[in-house]
Formats: sequence, structure tokens, C-alpha cells
Amino acid sequence: MKTLIKNIKQLVSPVNEDYAILSDFKRLSVYENVSIVVNNGIIEEIIDNPNPDIEVSGVINARNRVVMPAFVDPHTHLVFAGTREDEFNMRIQGKTYMEIAKAGGGINSTVKKTREASEGELYEAAKSNLLKMIEHGVATFEIKSGYGLDTETELKQLRVIKKLMENMPVDIKATFLGAHEIPPEYREDKEKYIEILINEMLPAAKEQGIAEYCDIFCEEGVFDVEESRRILTKAKELGFKIRMHADELTPLGGAELAAELGAKSADHLVYISDKGIDAMVSKNVVFVMLPGTTFFLMSQKYAPAKKIAERGGIVALSTDFNPGSSYTHSMPMIITLACLNMGLTIEQAINAATINAAYSLDLHNKTGSIHKGKQADLIFLDIPSYKFLVYNYGVNHVSAVMKKGKVIYQR
Ligand code: NIG
Ligand code: FE
Repeated sequence: MKTLIKNIKQLVSPVNEDYAILSDFKRLSVYENVSIVVNNGIIEEIIDNPNPDIEVSGVINARNRVVMPAFVDPHTHLVFAGTREDEFNMRIQGKTYMEIAKAGGGINSTVKKTREASEGELYEAAKSNLLKMIEHGVATFEIKSGYGLDTETELKQLRVIKKLMENMPVDIKATFLGAHEIPPEYREDKEKYIEILINEMLPAAKEQGIAEYCDIFCEEGVFDVEESRRILTKAKELGFKIRMHADELTPLGGAELAAELGAKSADHLVYISDKGIDAMVSKNVVFVMLPGTTFFLMSQKYAPAKKIAERGGIVALSTDFNPGSSYTHSMPMIITLACLNMGLTIEQAINAATINAAYSLDLHNKTGSIHKGKQADLIFLDIPSYKFLVYNYGVNHVSAVMKKGKVIYQR
């Protein structure tokens, strides 16, 4: 089945099909006044003028919109119960994220509610949040567990992710994040929780077969580098690929560990060292930047995305969508924050939110750029040129989202 997407005012894509670094990271392919031929959901060709002889079974009129690859969000905590607006109110009055966590709020307050929630309730909440993210242009997601912190609830969260994979019209990759925090019942005996993680939770998550990646919160007061190494080494032995929350609030050396373990990505990286940058670059570990989290936690210190890009790192962007440290459904907002606060150019930020994010999820063969043979995962934007995505900030310009050639959202 062939579809013609005609009247595209400006078609914008990463130049590369796999990932973009250095000079390619600064560039985008831009075609004016073109059409795209989609065959069975796959991009077949970009043509200058719609050829009237082309035989198609459907025509989609882009009505002079800007079209670019749908965003890929490579770091979300989409499955949880309850929200934390009261903590937010405390934070804006001066309490820090860590102070609130120590006083029993933070991740553990979401853990309590997530343990109590039924699978159906978790699914409905996650679905509603996921649909809002689609409205903002995301058509490929990574979703983590990590609000269970016991075998039963972590598996429950992963089952919810599986149900989303089966029922939502997007690509989803699942990550096991049992090492997101020390649960309250093991606050005084972290070693015991690590043993449970290694001997019980990781094997159970592996056996369930839903999670492809294993992630950890490598941070002062959570899991230090040595503990992270133990847990992630076991995860690797079981066949998980590795992602990490690293060097977010303190310079612990998580980036170096990510390189040592051959992780697929290390995320946050606000306090990454120069050594950590070089180590990750040499091992092709993706630097997932989460400027929304820094913004929402009201810190002035952003991850050094510009420096990382100059040194040849693969830079990706993500919302970090979660109820505590980044409650936004908007990838365009993240792109704007990356430009204004991390010094990325518009072109770099778009590459980071599409092809490099896809690469970090091992999905660059399918999505993240507009190239022949990839899925027609596209967004239609109501703006005069792609630069308005960032320039005209705080507004959702997405008028439609296409996944594998099908319109999955239209305003
Ligand atoms: O990525 N850093 C740790 N985990 C999350 C926050 C989760 C929460 O506060 O509920 C993050 O920022
Ligand atoms: Fe996170």
C-alpha cells in the first residue's frame, strides 16, 4: 500500500542514518517543497514535485507544514501512581530534592503508591501520560520500572510496559530499574537489598523477558560506584544491556563506570569529569542529556552538552518524564531548554532528540531520521521553518504524528 505525503513545505532530517557527532551533529538535511512516498509504512522516496503518474492508494496533504522525524524519548519513568505537586511546592520554597527524599518523600513516596496501585490503574495512568507525550511529537519511547523496589511490584510495572507495547501505536523499549533507590524496609541494610537485587530481582526480571536494559541510580546516598559495578555486572551476565543514571547530583564517577561496562547510555551527567567524557566517547556510550530535570530542580548547573559535543560524544536528549524531578510531557520544551541552557544549536538539539536518541535504544535502523527503508515516523509542525520549533518556545506546534505511515495523532 503506497501513500503519498504531498505539499511538505520543509522536510528536515538528520544527515546520518545511525548517529550524528561533531560536524554532522551541527547539520540537518533540509528539503523545500517536497513529497514523500511511503510504502507499507516504510519511507520509499523523497520527490521534488509530486509526480502525477505515481500510483498510490492514499494521499496525505501536509498543507505546507514542516515535517521531521518523530521524536525518540530514550529515558522515561512513565509507569507510576500518584503525583508530587506538594513536594514541588516545597521545593520552590527552598527545600531541596535530597532533603525531601530523606524526609520520606521523593522516589519512595511514589514507590508506596505504586505498590498499592493495581495493574489496571497503573496502565490507565501510564497510557494517559504516554498519549500526551505523543501529542508533543514522541513516537518511540524507553520506559523504566523502578517505583516498585520489590520483585512483585517491579514485575507488575514491567507487565504494564508490555501492555503498552502491545496496545499503543508506538515503539517501546523496556528497562529494569530495581536499583532506583533503597526501599524503606532496607534503609538500614542496603547490603541486603543489593543481594536481593542480584540474586532475586534481576533473574526474575530476566526470566519475565520484557526488559532489554538494566539501569541504576548511581549516586551518593543511593548506589555508589562499587555497588553499581556489582549490580550491573550481574545484569550483564544475565544478558541485559546497560543504561545508567550517572553523575547527576555529585561527581561520583558513574560515567567512567558506564564506559568500563560498555553501557549503551549514561544519563544526566551534570557532574561528569573530563576523564568520564573521554572514556564514554572512546566506547561510543551515548550521553543522554536531561535539561528538563536540571530546570525543574532549579539548579543553575546543566550537563556540559556543548563540551561533550565538541569532544565527539553522541549526545541525545530526553524528558526524564517522572512525577518528582521532571513532570513534563513535552520534548519540544526539552529541546528549547537544551538550546537555551546547554548551548546546543537548534540543529544539534534536533539531532539529539531524533537520531541519537534512536541510536541509544538500538532503534536507529528503524527510526530517528528520514531515510529510504526506515519507518515513516514523522511529525507535522505548524510553523514556517524548523527553527521556530525552538524560537517560538513554550507552544506545542505538533499538528499530527505519524507512526509507520499511519496517523496516530491529529490535532
Ligand atoms: O531520573 N534520578 C533519579 N530518578 C529520577 C527521579 C525520580 C523521582 O523523583 O521520582 C530521575 O531524575
Ligand atoms: Fe531518570
